[in-house]
Amino acid sequence: MTRTSPCLSKVFRFGRPGSGTVWTSLHIIVMAATAMLMSVSASPPEDPIRCTSTGCTITNSYGAFPDRSTCKAGAAAFPTSEEELVWVVGNATKSRRKMKVATHSSHSIPKLVCPDGEDGLLVSTKYMKRIVRVDRQGMRMSVEGGVTLRQLIEEAAKAGMALPYAPYWWGVTVGGMLGTGAHGSSLWGKGSALHDYVEAMRIVSPGRPGDGYAKIRTLDVNRNSTRAEMDAVKVSLGVLGVISQVTLKLQPLFKRSLTYSVKGDSSLGEQATTFGNQHEFADIMWYPSQRKAVYRIDDRVTLNAVGNGLYDFTPFRSTPSLTLALVRSTEELQESLNDADGKCNSAKLVSSSLETIAYGLTNNGIIFTGYPVIGYHNKLQSSGTCLDSSRDGLITACPWDPRVKGEFFYQTTFSVGLSIVKNFIKDIQQLIALKPKALCGVELYNGILMRYVTASSAYLGKEEDAIDFDITYYKSKDPLSPRLYEDVLEEIEQMALFKYNALPHWGKNRNLAFDGAIKKYKKAQEFFKVKEVYDPLGLFSSEWTDQVLGLKEGVSIVRDGCALEGLCICSQDAHCAPKKGYYCRPGKVYKEARVCTRINSKTR
Ligand SMILES: *[C@@H]1O[C@H](CO)[C@@H](O)[C@H](O)[C@H]1NC(C)=O
Ligand SMILES: *[C@@H]1O[C@H](CO)[C@@H](O)[C@H](O)[C@H]1NC(C)=O
Repeated sequence: MTRTSPCLSKVFRFGRPGSGTVWTSLHIIVMAATAMLMSVSASPPEDPIRCTSTGCTITNSYGAFPDRSTCKAGAAAFPTSEEELVWVVGNATKSRRKMKVATHSSHSIPKLVCPDGEDGLLVSTKYMKRIVRVDRQGMRMSVEGGVTLRQLIEEAAKAGMALPYAPYWWGVTVGGMLGTGAHGSSLWGKGSALHDYVEAMRIVSPGRPGDGYAKIRTLDVNRNSTRAEMDAVKVSLGVLGVISQVTLKLQPLFKRSLTYSVKGDSSLGEQATTFGNQHEFADIMWYPSQRKAVYRIDDRVTLNAVGNGLYDFTPFRSTPSLTLALVRSTEELQESLNDADGKCNSAKLVSSSLETIAYGLTNNGIIFTGYPVIGYHNKLQSSGTCLDSSRDGLITACPWDPRVKGEFFYQTTFSVGLSIVKNFIKDIQQLIALKPKALCGVELYNGILMRYVTASSAYLGKEEDAIDFDITYYKSKDPLSPRLYEDVLEEIEQMALFKYNALPHWGKNRNLAFDGAIKKYKKAQEFFKVKEVYDPLGLFSSEWTDQVLGLKEGVSIVRDGCALEGLCICSQDAHCAPKKGYYCRPGKVYKEARVCTRINSKTR
């Protein structure tokens, strides 16, 4: 999308110590008197920020936060350079205005982009997407914070370089990935998290009057004096300021050879523990109700290996709106009829179709002729062609685009330490033995994605090598509507978080996952020390980030029906949906869990 936001091109006078007085042309909307004329017919994702004459709202790319609240702001700024960014942060700091960083399409599920109150300032990095420096000799690239993963991968490849590990969805930005600790899958090298490849970064935070109310800090891993700060800024939930520039350590571009291998899941616990050490890009898609697992056998090969493979992951392609509506209606119907068999049949169909078309892999960019698929890393590591949906009036869109009737889901994502993951998997298998159809609903969203992540020096990074479990499942449009087998999903969620001490993914999850999460981080106090220095007034903090960081109570919201939405763990039937037959009961394998269980009136 090009500029859909009315940017009042203004010239502001701005003084900064050291640089004298500079003039900067700033694209910014300030409570835009100009109403925003957003074309509703464009099919690429929409800017999550909308402004009218009375203020702005922001949402995420799924159109809903976990508590379904609306997030308001007084204004939005769209700086196009670090200089403009400094001006924006300084001006807001001067009047002690709350700020939050937003990105071009805002993929975090929790409310990390919401400033407190209604008159905060959204600082979008949408136009800060320049490649600043390409250093082939040093195998480094410096980019602005708003650069997307896709851009990063493409630009690096043009220079013969590769970012070895990255998330699989390329719509995220460098600043957003660092903010939330995003990662790919690997136990090799420095592991799969983007933040462990950061060599240097620049961050703009509130400053003192003498600094023009904004301060740019330059951090470098090779400088001892900033190493501790780096460990805070690398994964910061956006509370330390705006990351304006990042220098990443890359590698010479290489090729990979990928084979998906489908197996029964009876020995998954043992396999999962060792598989990540056997293959550099290993991951596992697990279909617990179908009792099978798809192992990604994926390794580096020499550059002269023959193949020009391409991974255009099918669920991330633009999809006809009619198809999306049909799939969603079927799912809604199955939910309303408690049709578990229907869901299991649909799940088998979906997973066998994906298996047949190799999940969107082709050997040459056109057709899939068989494994292994060999190709350049940059063509296999990440995808998301629905970002290119043509402006076809929403005839096609990303499957979760809130403007069409399509996917609407929860994402529960956490990492379980590699040393205990076997037992966690066995517990889930025990639960499935009791309720065999319970996870067919998850299989409709391609099962549980298991990715390898490594311990990091980042204060809010992973504490140990682990497997990250990504679980996507049906969310009703009605917050008070229970889901089929929601007790099993709630039990798995609580079992992971409390029995196995799992760490929640900062950019995903429902409220309950963050309750007490900060206590699992040994270096949290070190993080707070840096926060105190960078933003003593907490202008980049919000009630939500304070709650997530354990600085304020209230991350769980207790009210009727709260457990249905993951806003709380039920302690009374009213937290579930007693009128619809769902009562708060103990878990079946993890007895300490409290979950919303459907009880037939006959058996009650
Ligand atoms: C600077 O900050 C003041 C106070 O928050 C605000 O009224 C004004 O619109 C801001 N100017 C710009 C260009 O953001
Ligand atoms: C940096 O820190 C390391 C370990 O703390 C130390 O060995 C090294 O001498 C330091 N380097 C400089 C330049 O201070």
